[in-house]
Amino acid sequence: MDLIRDLAALRERISLIRNQGKEIGFVPTMGFLHEGHLSLIETAKAQNTFVVVSIFVNPLQFGAGEDYEDYPRDLENDSRLAAVAGCDLVFYPVARDFYPSGYGTFVEVQGSITDRLCGASRPGHFRGVTTVLAKLFNLVEPHRTYFGQKDAQQCLVVKKMLEDLNYNVEFIIMPTVREPDGLAMSSRNKYLTPLQRKAAPVLYQSLQKANSLIDNGERDGKLIKELLECNIKTVPGAEIDYIQVVDVKKLEPLSQLAGTCLIALAVKFGTTRLIDNIIVEV
Ligand code: PAJ
Repeated sequence: MDLIRDLAALRERISLIRNQGKEIGFVPTMGFLHEGHLSLIETAKAQNTFVVVSIFVNPLQFGAGEDYEDYPRDLENDSRLAAVAGCDLVFYPVARDFYPSGYGTFVEVQGSITDRLCGASRPGHFRGVTTVLAKLFNLVEPHRTYFGQKDAQQCLVVKKMLEDLNYNVEFIIMPTVREPDGLAMSSRNKYLTPLQRKAAPVLYQSLQKANSLIDNGERDGKLIKELLECNIKTVPGAEIDYIQVVDVKKLEPLSQLAGTCLIALAVKFGTTRLIDNIIVEV
């Protein structure tokens, strides 16, 4: 497996790979890889002849006071895990090369899909995500790219950017990989204290309770939100950022569930912000 840090070296390698007629599957990450990331890499391996993984903690998508500096980093272990999962090339640029001094171009998807949910809690976050990805897609020139359902809103926003900017990249969404107790895997789980870690599965447990309520015929969006809120508030230290029952296309709040609905939430344990979601068809 190749490890490339330099942007020009990456371009050279990609051009060689494409000239060989290989199909490139691309998994962008911020590193500190876990089973969720590895499921994306393994699928990319199964569907492509060359797999690129980027590892880059993107400063643009972190707000002031967020965890950019503290975000966990472990390139050595990540490279080992990525190689085992089938990655052929890890691209790990440094921020000053990726955004050199005087850098001035930003990509922003506008509208309700970036304004709501995480967009409301983290202003500028999705602009940072789409800017880094627009650049990465130009550098890596993938045929296919793999994203996780855990970040449902990110999937919606990136898909929209790819469509609006005419990228010729197939966008593939993979299911959320969870710990045995249901907690969605996340690089940020590492921040949780033992007590917080014990409490954190309440996110998925409450989503599952909402799901069974809906299975039993409940359609009232407000009532479902209230159920989730009550459940989450039962554990000590959980501070709700948002709970939303929305349509899956525009993220508009639903008073009555209909069609494909997204139930998404963000909850803070101390300074650690966790997100999770389910999609329900009614
Ligand atoms: P990161 O949080 O490292 O996630 C990289 C990819 O892994 C994303 O597509 C994310 O949805 C997916 N992922 C994370 N946890 C997962 C889980 N438990 N199950 C399945 N997939 C999971 O998301 C980012 O990085 C960044 O915003 C990025 C897209 C790299 C842009 O900087």
